[in-house]
Amino acid sequence: MVVITVDFRSDTVTQPSASMRRAMAAAPTGDDVIDRDPTVAELESRTAALLGQEAGLFMPSGSMSNLVALMTQLRPGDRFLAPRHAHVLSHELGTAAWIAGGIPLELPWSHAPGVPAVADIEAVAAEESAQPAYYELVTRLVCLENSHNHAGGHIIEWPLAQQLSDAAHQAGWQVHLDGARLWHAAAAQAVSPAQAAGGADSVTVCFSKGLGAPVGSMLCASREFIDRARRWRKALGGGMRQSGVLAAAALVALDEELPRIDQDRVRAVQLADALSQLGLDAPTPATNIVLVSPGPGAPHSAGELARAWQEAGVGCLTMGPAVRLVTHRDIDDQKLAHGIGLLAAATERLRR
Ligand SMILES: Cc1ncc(COP(=O)(O)O)c(C=O)c1O
Repeated sequence: MVVITVDFRSDTVTQPSASMRRAMAAAPTGDDVIDRDPTVAELESRTAALLGQEAGLFMPSGSMSNLVALMTQLRPGDRFLAPRHAHVLSHELGTAAWIAGGIPLELPWSHAPGVPAVADIEAVAAEESAQPAYYELVTRLVCLENSHNHAGGHIIEWPLAQQLSDAAHQAGWQVHLDGARLWHAAAAQAVSPAQAAGGADSVTVCFSKGLGAPVGSMLCASREFIDRARRWRKALGGGMRQSGVLAAAALVALDEELPRIDQDRVRAVQLADALSQLGLDAPTPATNIVLVSPGPGAPHSAGELARAWQEAGVGCLTMGPAVRLVTHRDIDDQKLAHGIGLLAAATERLRR
């Protein structure tokens, strides 16, 4: 078995820092199902404030947070819109449909990779019957993703994020934002996470991706929304007892990792530059995700490139027709330089 020496597979591979482990050991805890855990309560109110929302609900994962949001928003027979290859469409086993009951309609990437245009939302709204018959689907929700994972971490810039929300609201629909990596999107634009969220009614954020905490995500919305969501979290088995031990690491992540998160984008840009210099097709990333392909007419497929890199000890994953490399807290300048050296040597060997 090849040992991974530089791990670009995802920003979820980070190890909890020493300060996270200390905070976890010292966290005051309670029973968060019977009443409240004080550390979870602190994380929920701090995160909600960061997102400009009234309340938060701590969840084990981003997938559960998205699902609970959609269960709170949708009923069977409802339709929701989401950009092509959104995580809720392609990477959560279709639970938005078979558990939350929503029938998805894909939005194109008319504005930019991963980003629909206002006109895409308006076009669906214009097609809806003003008085739908009882057997027709009724659109209730637009689900956006910022940054968009499958599109290579592309961001919805905040004026557009607000315009997309406004268009949905104009049509009488709600907006859920899958902001698993909203932290990166906000930092890349030098705006607050609340501003980057662009008027969404409910927002998922993750602590276990770029922020480096071992576990946890948060759904933030109005108090009334979160009260309803809490019932769905319990129904899915997501009620956690002394979960303050997990929330404590996420609080450290907000204090220590959020201020430095834009470094991941800077290193991703350096990585993409180095890969371009090797003659590969690696567009400059907007955040911390680099999508690289062998380029037109290249003798090797993305799969062969990924295999060559993995055999050289570089962790990476294929995504569609490209290879995905993600920078994160555990890739410092030294690791990055080492990784680039391994990638260059393995690419050279493959071409010989
Ligand atoms: C955009 C996006 N949303 C949601 C998730 C789901 O998060 P989790 O793996 O914690 O369920 C991911 C995971 O990578 C993601 O990239």
